[in-house]
Amino acid sequence: MDKGFPENFLWGGATAANQAEGAYLTDGKGLSTADVMTASVHGIPREITDGVVEGKYYPSHHAVDHYHRFKEDIALFAEMGFKCYRMSIAWSRIFPNGDEEVPNEAGLKHYDDVFDTCHQYGIEPLVTLSHFETPLGLLKYGSWENRKVIDFYLQYCRTVFNRYKGKVKYWLTFNEINVMSTKPWMAGGVQSDDEQTRMTAAYHQFLASAKAVQMAHDIDADNKVGMMYAGHIAYPNSCDPEDMQATNDFMHKMLFYCDVQCRGYYPSYKLKEFEREGIVLPIQDGDLEELKNGKVDFLSYSYYLTHVVGKETNLDFKGLNGVKTGYKNPYLPTSDWGWNIDSIGLRYSLNLLYDRYQIPLMVVENGLGAIDKVERDGSVHDSYRIDYLRDHLKEMKKAIEIDGIPIMGYTMWGPIDIIAASTGEMKKRYGFIYVDVDDNGNGTFKRIRKDSFYWYKKVIESNGEKLE
Ligand code: BG6
Repeated sequence: MDKGFPENFLWGGATAANQAEGAYLTDGKGLSTADVMTASVHGIPREITDGVVEGKYYPSHHAVDHYHRFKEDIALFAEMGFKCYRMSIAWSRIFPNGDEEVPNEAGLKHYDDVFDTCHQYGIEPLVTLSHFETPLGLLKYGSWENRKVIDFYLQYCRTVFNRYKGKVKYWLTFNEINVMSTKPWMAGGVQSDDEQTRMTAAYHQFLASAKAVQMAHDIDADNKVGMMYAGHIAYPNSCDPEDMQATNDFMHKMLFYCDVQCRGYYPSYKLKEFEREGIVLPIQDGDLEELKNGKVDFLSYSYYLTHVVGKETNLDFKGLNGVKTGYKNPYLPTSDWGWNIDSIGLRYSLNLLYDRYQIPLMVVENGLGAIDKVERDGSVHDSYRIDYLRDHLKEMKKAIEIDGIPIMGYTMWGPIDIIAASTGEMKKRYGFIYVDVDDNGNGTFKRIRKDSFYWYKKVIESNGEKLE
């Protein structure tokens, strides 16, 4: 009997361009939706400004300067033994406004260098095509509300699929696509509370993704294209059947995104909901065929926490920030940011998703955002992070050994400290590598190995056998 993680398991880490690169206008890059988001201050949500406003602080503009330091950063990933680096291409580096006819060569060249550096160390890149940053120039079209944006996205996909053929074979079409229901600005430059608008934008992204999957396969038969789900998983607040029903409703609101992308069609419960709510999908001839033909090869997702849902829970997602939904779980501790810590929930979610879709899974985000302290001698003792990750890896191992789930790999979130997506803060750190920069962008940007760095190195060296 095979035990433990498979031989070719893709161990690594994951980042996103807008949270890591900085260099927001360098080498011809255009502005993206992420570049007009301020950091949240004292719990007040990040502000979306009309363009870049002088005097405001935008964390993506400098982030952790990965754009200029990627060689040093990837060398550190290699030192830990990474097999895989999940990262995103900033669309607005390739097409600065999103709608140009000719791509920006400097942007393309940059990612050539990044992928070459990965391969130099035997690290397989896994590329997210759109991770919370749509070129701001596409707003004049109404962003993803407008079907035309599908063509711009596909032009971008065609450009990078051709350019990086042979260098990249794992792709994700949209990061956390279900965030269109919760934070549509991040998901696709949509700023509307209106459900019709959000569902139209989601429809266009589904179609764009389905076409991109087929295009990727046509350009290179070795390409594997996945979807990426924000792993919202809920437990019922009690065994009251009404709480269970509410939990099911909650899960439907999120899982329908996976249903469309993994099964190739809208589920009946969603179509019924649209009928009741008077929501009309802008379906054109041939679209449904495209959805069917553009099913993903694998399902990847982020896993941080679980929710507790009951009959009293407000299932209107407008206020959902991925955190404070439903009830507190009295059985679970929470992080410094109030996210509950639930390692067993990871195994539960792997089972839930595999039972439902029967396609390979990949955990492409998981980690603990915490405040780290640099000691006088320059060390960072982050035993809390090691505990968090170890517990989750143990549960993932059970999902492989006991439940027999095919898991392609694990890229923990933020192997190097980067800015937080929900708050724009720097002090919410996930990394194995500390970056000396604070919430105002001040610091030396020096990289420091934390205790967890050495721990993860051993984990990878032993292919997940040495977790202690
Ligand atoms: C996921 C996103 O939602 O969660 C990442 O894909 C994000 O971009 C991560 O950084 C963790 O959230 P946060 O807000 O702590 O950075």
